[in-house]
Amino acid sequence: MAILSLVGAQWGDEGKGKIGDVLAQRANLVVRYNGGDNAGHTIVTDGGTFILHIVPCGALREGVLNIIAAGTVINPKILLRELDQLKEMGHAQNSSTLTISPKAHLITDLHLHYEAWIEEQLGKAKLDTTLRGIGPAYALKALRLNLRAGELRHEKTIRNRIPLLAKILGASKDDSEKVIDYLLSIREWFTPFLGDDRKLIWEALQNNRKILLEGAQGTLLDIDHGTYPFVTSSNTLVGAGSASLGIPPRFITSSIGMMKAYTTRVGAGPFPTELANELGEQLREKGGEYGATTRRPRRCGWFDGVIAGYSSSLNGWNYLAITKLDVLDGLEKVKICVAYKLNGKAIDYFPSEAEELTQVEPVYEEMPGWRETVEGKKSFDELPKEAQNYLERISEITGAQLAIISVGSHRDETIVLEDVWSSL
Ligand code: IMP
Repeated sequence: MAILSLVGAQWGDEGKGKIGDVLAQRANLVVRYNGGDNAGHTIVTDGGTFILHIVPCGALREGVLNIIAAGTVINPKILLRELDQLKEMGHAQNSSTLTISPKAHLITDLHLHYEAWIEEQLGKAKLDTTLRGIGPAYALKALRLNLRAGELRHEKTIRNRIPLLAKILGASKDDSEKVIDYLLSIREWFTPFLGDDRKLIWEALQNNRKILLEGAQGTLLDIDHGTYPFVTSSNTLVGAGSASLGIPPRFITSSIGMMKAYTTRVGAGPFPTELANELGEQLREKGGEYGATTRRPRRCGWFDGVIAGYSSSLNGWNYLAITKLDVLDGLEKVKICVAYKLNGKAIDYFPSEAEELTQVEPVYEEMPGWRETVEGKKSFDELPKEAQNYLERISEITGAQLAIISVGSHRDETIVLEDVWSSL
């Protein structure tokens, strides 16, 4: 009985789509446990490029049951668009390949308008969210006012709840009626996907099935342990999977920390190793660092080992998957931040306030770069020695074993060092 969890170790965009798809090849269930369509999980196959926002990354693999669990927030409009795209590209989903938890929460146009209004009120202090209604949906969930996916089965609940939500969010009666009409119109296609997700997962556990948990966003965007307030509105950590799925934590026996070979961040907030210079721009262009969901340019910087270590202690990685190593090809030197200094003195904790994190000064370790490209390499031993040393240093910092190295965007451009499934 075992579950493998795949979680972003940085600020999201670590390449969870690609690695999730590789792992899903041998999974029986893939379960998305947090967030909504603020995520953009990219998978490149011979059949084209798929950007999955809410459907789990097992959708492109035969025989996988994909589950959108209770801890998520779903915008049915985005879900429908994604299901249509998948169908067009030969990966149609039905109720035996996709189950939606009745306990997941819904995002409507009311949530989207409200979030746009909040960001406008904040002006220069805005959080720079993805504007997908994520924050309002989780906030209304905590207020116990939001509509859950299962409640789409009850017309009366929709008719009662939406006007209440509209009132709280300052929306007009007209907007409220439009949302009611829309929600009533989607019941026919949406409700067949509803299923007893917890029971399905429990049975899969009893039958020794391979279950992959797919985290969204990243550790530093966790609402409690991330760089608050510049975070998302859910818990993103490995531990959050247990609460979302409704299964005991001890069943999550293994986890893979996903990280890029450098660091990126999209949206506002402190970023100690940011390269606000030509090199940062070079990484952005070479790495195609533009948001998969919003196309916003991502801020780029050196690999932050302090974040990697903090992330490892929050999640307890067994394994590491490192992506975009090829983007660092050709650099004379590569740097890893190994400590933060505040007012000239090294600190031994991760600052909890953005005010303090903005002020820290990164302390770097410099390593020789590699001239030869890592693209096309099939094994760890084939990588330039300098690249091997760089990866081993990251493994040392996190205390986790290197399992997967990605050297290109296609699903096949992947070096697998450890068979993570067989260790479960
Ligand atoms: P929200 O999740 O839309 O509320 O956005 C809150 C913060 O998280 C913003 O800085 C977003 O840019 C960031 N964010 C949300 N989802 C992702 C993601 O999937 N990748 C990277 N950043 C994200």
